[in-house]
Amino acid sequence: MTEKKVLLYPVWIRLWHLLNALLILLLIITGISMLYSTLSATWMRFDVAVTIHNTSGVLLTISYLFFFLGNLFTTNWRHYVIQLPGMWTRLWKQFRYYAFGVFLKEECPFPIGSKRKFNPLQQFTYTGMMYFIVPVIMITGWAMMFPEVIIDQYLKIAGFKTTDVIHVAGAFIVFIFLLIHLYFATMGKKPSTHYKAMITGYHEDETG
Ligand code: HEM
Repeated sequence: MTEKKVLLYPVWIRLWHLLNALLILLLIITGISMLYSTLSATWMRFDVAVTIHNTSGVLLTISYLFFFLGNLFTTNWRHYVIQLPGMWTRLWKQFRYYAFGVFLKEECPFPIGSKRKFNPLQQFTYTGMMYFIVPVIMITGWAMMFPEVIIDQYLKIAGFKTTDVIHVAGAFIVFIFLLIHLYFATMGKKPSTHYKAMITGYHEDETG
């Protein structure tokens, strides 16, 4: 029997995702290098790290505008809308599947198809990353490129330092997200299934 395939990742999503992954990797490497500049000075000069970091940040903002417009003008945004009733129950079901079900060879509780390409945990984290965490990092990053826009003090707390802490905390969340993202992406029918889908665009319709 030939399996039915659905186009989950049209070419604009694949191109955006590739650029996004490369830029975020560059931002993480240069960001860590700047954070620990006294230790890393031997392998990347501080001014070089700053230039690559700022340029990648500007390009990332442009790529996010492209992503938001892509979602606005196609139906892809629907996959990012979280239905609040029953959300925690669905999240728990998927979490239980990842923790035990996968290893017990159980059926996936939320099979992938054209109507649902993300399981509840993916939907929750992707929506949080794309519409909250990364935008906060970009806004605080731009603010630090133009420090004159940052208020000096608020309730005796230094404005620049606070902006920096929010920026670095957000970046840390992205780093952790990336590790979990890479691991969970191996949890398809085969470890390579989701990676292949992100390259070819097509995924098996598991809804039958
Ligand atoms: C080396 C880096 C990366 C690799 C190899 C990778 C891999 C993948 C794969 C295989 C998928 C499709 C299957 C799935 O949903 O799990 C995917 C989807 C996705 N990834 Fe990544 N990823 C990377 C970095 C990132 C980063 C840094 C972000 C965000 C900050 C991100 C956000 C997303 C989103 C939002 C989707 C769903 C896109 C859509 O269909 O609308 N990825 N990724």
